[in-house]
Amino acid sequence: MARKYYGLLEGKKGVIFGALNEQSLAWQIALQVYGEGGQFILTNAPIAMRFASLDVLSYQCGNASVVAADVTKDEDLQQLFTEAQSRFGGIDFIVHSVGRSENIRKKTPYENLRYEWYLKTLDISAISLHRMILHALPVLNDGASIVALTYIGSHRIFSEYNDMSDAKALLEAIARNFGARLGERKIRVNTVSQSPTHTTAGNGIAGFDALYEFADKLSPLGNANAEECADYVVTLLSDLTSKVTLQNLYHDGGFSQMGMNERVMRLMELSASAAQPQP
Ligand SMILES: NC(=O)c1ccc[n+]([C@@H]2O[C@H](COP(=O)([O-])OP(=O)(O)OC[C@H]3O[C@@H](n4cnc5c(N)ncnc54)[C@H](O)[C@@H]3O)[C@@H](O)[C@H]2O)c1
Repeated sequence: MARKYYGLLEGKKGVIFGALNEQSLAWQIALQVYGEGGQFILTNAPIAMRFASLDVLSYQCGNASVVAADVTKDEDLQQLFTEAQSRFGGIDFIVHSVGRSENIRKKTPYENLRYEWYLKTLDISAISLHRMILHALPVLNDGASIVALTYIGSHRIFSEYNDMSDAKALLEAIARNFGARLGERKIRVNTVSQSPTHTTAGNGIAGFDALYEFADKLSPLGNANAEECADYVVTLLSDLTSKVTLQNLYHDGGFSQMGMNERVMRLMELSASAAQPQP
C-alpha cells in the first residue's frame, strides 16, 4: 500500500546528518521528511562521501544540496551552517544521526580501551551534537526542533556496545542541557532511542544479530525498522510536538519496559535442555 503523506513539514527547512546508504536511519528520515514537504541539506564526513551514494538520495529528495562536513571540525560545521543560511535564510530542524567507535570496529574490550579511540568516539558520537548546535544557533529559527538518534545502551549494559554506551549517555545529557537553555526560543531538543537496526554502524557491533533477535522477541511490537524510525522523527520535527523537549523517547516496540516474556523464556528453556547431558 502506498504511504500516505500529510504535509507535516511543508515550509520547513533543515540539515540532516548521517545518511550513508539506504540502510542508514538518516537516509530513511530524509526520504520521509522530503515526502512531508521538508527541504534540507544532506551532509556527511568528507571521507564517507567516497562510499556514500548521497547523489542518489539527493535526486530522490528533489536535488537536495549535499555538503561535506566532519562533525568533529568547527570550520566544517561553520561552513555548513553558513551555506544553510544562504540557501534557506533560517532553519527549522536538525537531525543528528551520527556515530562511530574505532574500539567497537577493532573489537577492543571495554576494560582495555584505546584512549585515543575512546576520545574520538565521544567526539564524533556525542560532543558533535554540542558543536553542531553551537554553530547552528545563529541560523536556527525560533521554534526549531533538534533530534539526535541514541540507543538504550546509554544507561543499561549491553556488553558489546562498549564505549558507545558512554558516548550515548553524554549525547543524551547534551540534548537535555541544550534543550533547557533553548526553551526561551521555543527550540526543542530530544533524543530518539531506536531499536537495533541493520545498518553499517549497527552491523559493526559484535553479536549484533543475536542482540537484534533478542530485542525483537522481547519487544511486544517487535523491533522498529528504519522507515518506522523515520516516521517517528517526522512527528518530532513537526509542529504537532511543539511542547516536547528534553526527552529521551523510546522507539523500540516496547523493549525498554520489558523484563522477560514467554517467547524468550521458551528459547532459554530450549537452550537449557540442549545443554543437559544426554542419558
Ligand atoms: N543501527 C542501530 O541499531 C541503531 C540503534 C539505535 C541508535 N542508532 C544510532 O543511529 C545513528 C545513525 O546510525 P545508523 O545505524 O543509521 O548507521 P550508519 O552507519 O548508516 O550512520 C552513521 C553515520 O555517521 C557518519 N559519521 C561517522 N563519523 C562522522 C564524522 N566524523 N562526521 C560526520 N559524520 C560521521 C557515518 O558516515 C554514517 O553516515 C547513530 O547515532 C547510531 O548510534 C543506531
